[in-house]
Amino acid sequence: MKRNILIHPDPRLKKVCAPVADLSDELRQLADDMLETMYDAPGIGLAAPQIGVLERLIVLDCVKEEGETPRPLVMFNPEVIASSDETNVYEEGCLSIPEQFAEVTRPKVVDVTWMDRDGNLRQETFDGLWATCVQHEIDHLNGKLFIDYLKPLKRQMITRKMQKLKRERARA
Ligand code: NI
Repeated sequence: MKRNILIHPDPRLKKVCAPVADLSDELRQLADDMLETMYDAPGIGLAAPQIGVLERLIVLDCVKEEGETPRPLVMFNPEVIASSDETNVYEEGCLSIPEQFAEVTRPKVVDVTWMDRDGNLRQETFDGLWATCVQHEIDHLNGKLFIDYLKPLKRQMITRKMQKLKRERARA
């Protein structure tokens, strides 16, 4: 089932999310719903707080080329355990901040641990777009948005645009 994506500013997007203690069918369904919502948007990552669920769960799939096999990843309690000194700059966007993009600098390579959909502990090294995406999504679990990396003026400009967008949507 597709879920409704919250638009910034929203207090739920500023919260530190709680760790997932035990996997349940309900949480697996939530992860499936998030993947469906992400693909539909379309986007390459989605975090649970973006659909109003304050738990440490993200989904991502950075395979963008037409015809390539999708690689949906479901991560419960994801954590960056090591990051490279070398950085990368990507023009980032966010499904909670539609049609706004800005360059963000982050570590180029990160090692991430998480619990998968079957409850297995996993660890993997991510590079390039995958590394940026997984860091962006984990930030969401700590109440941080990509615009928080920008200069205040630019952040305020984007926030005002989003407030206007929300007013327009509320009227429609
Ligand atoms: Ni985002």
